[in-house]
Amino acid sequence: MSRAAVHVGLDQPLEIRDDLEVAPPQRGELKVRIAASGVCHSDLSVQNGTIPLAPPMVLGHEGAGVVEEVGEGVVGFAPGDHVVLTFVPECGECYFCRRDQGFMCEKSAAQAAGGMLDGTTRMTSGGRPVGQMAMCGTFGEVTVVPAISAVKIDPDVPLEAAALLGCAVQTGVGAATHTANIRGGDTVAVLGCGGVGLNVIQGARIAGAERIIAVDMVDAKLDLARRFGATDVVNAARANPVAQVQSLTEERGADVAFEVIGLAATIEQSMQMTRRGGETVLVGVPRLDVVLNVNPAFAFIYTARTVKGCWYGSANVHREVPRLLELYRTGELMLDELISREIALDQVNEAFAAMKAGEVARSVIVF
Ligand code: APR
Ligand code: ZN
Ligand code: ZN
Repeated sequence: MSRAAVHVGLDQPLEIRDDLEVAPPQRGELKVRIAASGVCHSDLSVQNGTIPLAPPMVLGHEGAGVVEEVGEGVVGFAPGDHVVLTFVPECGECYFCRRDQGFMCEKSAAQAAGGMLDGTTRMTSGGRPVGQMAMCGTFGEVTVVPAISAVKIDPDVPLEAAALLGCAVQTGVGAATHTANIRGGDTVAVLGCGGVGLNVIQGARIAGAERIIAVDMVDAKLDLARRFGATDVVNAARANPVAQVQSLTEERGADVAFEVIGLAATIEQSMQMTRRGGETVLVGVPRLDVVLNVNPAFAFIYTARTVKGCWYGSANVHREVPRLLELYRTGELMLDELISREIALDQVNEAFAAMKAGEVARSVIVF
């Protein structure tokens, strides 16, 4: 039996259940005892329907733990190995993986059904199947994942910090270092300084941006943003953020602007605060009914702007996790500082409330 936090219906609090049966790993799978899991806005987005995934489902897609059992045919993992789980599996063999776009791996398609690669789940509660978010389901003591969703790490890396590599860090840092084309000396703007946005900020610093303008509505987030590398801060609750960024850039706009919230209004703002010939990178996940407006098309062409979607920081996880851990070791990448609160599994609903209130960079569930 495993204890887990289960999404049971739209806008319902997650239910903490003690009775989850977790089946043994099948061929190509690993059973993992979760040590830590970050609480991400995308988990909340499942609960509130922004990301439509059917209940019941164990949420959580940003975790790290220890391999407990290895399924048939799995190479490169043994019980006792420490692993980071990734919410995009990377098979290394499909059309996209062969073109160095592991973040688009064809194997992730089955996620929409809430199951593993074959669409079925390894979890049941009272005999009924329970889905696993992103083939992970890290809001539970034990899970089974495809081996291609796990990356082995050194056992000396703290698992609370490693967990964040599974989503926020990979997505945010990757948005700046892989998706965007930041040049040394560039000015970037980052809208939204939550768990992901702070990582865009530190990624921009690592990529050599000279000025990093952080935009948020919460002063405490802007203070955090400075710690992660922001050189200027803009409080969007006090004045129009587009005008503020324009005035900080001689009315030109930022070379690269990142949207890391996922709202129609802020997506529009991020495009408006990008300079002519610059790049807007959309990282936040909007509701399905949000439409990108590039009217008039003439201006879009005339101003030679690029709007790029960013999925999972354009990462190839098997290469990226070791690179990020090396940056952590040398002190360039801040991971521990992202953890605002360590909580118990039962406090996950409070963690959602804290996230909505803008109180935390990350709450991390420690098992
Ligand atoms: N203007 C400026 N800042 C805003 C606004 C706004 N209109 N609305 C919200 N924010 C800020 C919040 O104050 C918060 O600091 O955006 C930040 C969002 O951070 P989190 O809630 O911690 O979300 P995070 O986990 O970082 O995810 C951000 O990326 O992966 C996706 O689904 C995820 O769409 C979400 C986005
Ligand atoms: Zn693939
Ligand atoms: Zn996430």
